[in-house]
Amino acid sequence: MYQRCINCGECYDVDEVIYKCMKCGDILEIKYDYSLLEKRLEKSDWRKLPLSVWRYHDFMPIKDFSKIVSLNEGGTSLYSCQRLGKILGLKNLYVKNEGENPTGSFKDRGMTVGVTKAVELGVKIVACASTGNTSASLAAYAAKAGLSCIILIPSGAIAFGKLAQAIAYGAKVVQIRGNFDKALEMVLKLSEEHKEIYLLNSINPFRIEGQKTIAYEICDQLNLNSPDVVVVPVGNAGNISAIWKGFTEFYELDLIDRLPRMMGIQAEGAAPIARAIKSGEDKIVPVEKPETIASAIRIGAPVSWKKALRAIKGSGGTAETVSDYEILEAQKLLARSEGIFVEPASAASIAGLKKLVENGEIDRDEVVVCVTTGHGLKDPDIVVKTFEKPYEVDAELKAIEKILGLALQLT
Ligand code: F0G
Repeated sequence: MYQRCINCGECYDVDEVIYKCMKCGDILEIKYDYSLLEKRLEKSDWRKLPLSVWRYHDFMPIKDFSKIVSLNEGGTSLYSCQRLGKILGLKNLYVKNEGENPTGSFKDRGMTVGVTKAVELGVKIVACASTGNTSASLAAYAAKAGLSCIILIPSGAIAFGKLAQAIAYGAKVVQIRGNFDKALEMVLKLSEEHKEIYLLNSINPFRIEGQKTIAYEICDQLNLNSPDVVVVPVGNAGNISAIWKGFTEFYELDLIDRLPRMMGIQAEGAAPIARAIKSGEDKIVPVEKPETIASAIRIGAPVSWKKALRAIKGSGGTAETVSDYEILEAQKLLARSEGIFVEPASAASIAGLKKLVENGEIDRDEVVVCVTTGHGLKDPDIVVKTFEKPYEVDAELKAIEKILGLALQLT
């Protein structure tokens, strides 16, 4: 295994701490010798292990498994959503609910691998910029590993639940006056200036290795079949790239016999990737001032845009944009039809799916998996502010019956 530049193909050792190619400045990915990996899998008992990130330890760029830093991540449910499917006009709809991870988002899959790598490298300080979930997750895994954790977040712009998590886990939280893109720029500079700080944003390819297990698990949960379509909300674009990598690796290893189409969903006010796909461009135009109610994906200059375009185009998929209104409606619909409560960024995938079915991009007979990335309790303010308000009455039975509309029925 080695690290390879996605642009010029320059290779680097897995133990080299490097986030961008020294030759061309592009980002890196982890590559394996798949024929060697195939042999390793033949001798491995991985199929007997429970569904989790570390079930796939053979597929991971880790050398010393005694150092694994884990909070039991992965193994999330793949719900068959028949009521929602009926409403949207789909026969085989599944939701992969990543909110079930230990800190409530898919980020835990990346962090268990990223922080294990940090421990393997002997680093003592880890850092990230975040719209909230990455910081909550890194703070937890750093605590578990006994590492110091630095977090840069856009000031006043992340959901309260996520901020509370980072503080509770004891990270040093710095609010930057600026948006996420600015915070990411600053944390990159910080880790360049101070080599002892190990960067764990998704530019770090070890994070992507953990997140690719979403795809592995989906295949395993569908009895070693690929779905036809996978729908993913896109922000910094690490996750859609990771999921595509997972599918292509299972395909390369003959564990599945076809690949899904990858559909990337972005919020209207923060959609550089969806815009590039829709206009057939090979490059994105960053959004100066990204705006959306879905703060997790309020990102204008996604660092993994090139990987994401490759995933979407290479899979024959497409991208879609959704408005804040559509996101909130989708959040309500999923909660009320399936009992799955997700945060707005995750609901973007449901809102996007609805549009893709209406536009004829997805056929009603296809097997569709929608990835919901974060738990609804991360951002309860949104629901309390925008959904129906609760009733308030005096502590009298008559008053309660009246408000519930029971008075007439009972008399
Ligand atoms: N959904 C949720 C709930 C997220 O927190 C994020 C990203 C995404 C989707 C998009 O994933 O960036 O890999 O395309 N959150 C990051 C963070 C940026 O800092 O927590 P992506």
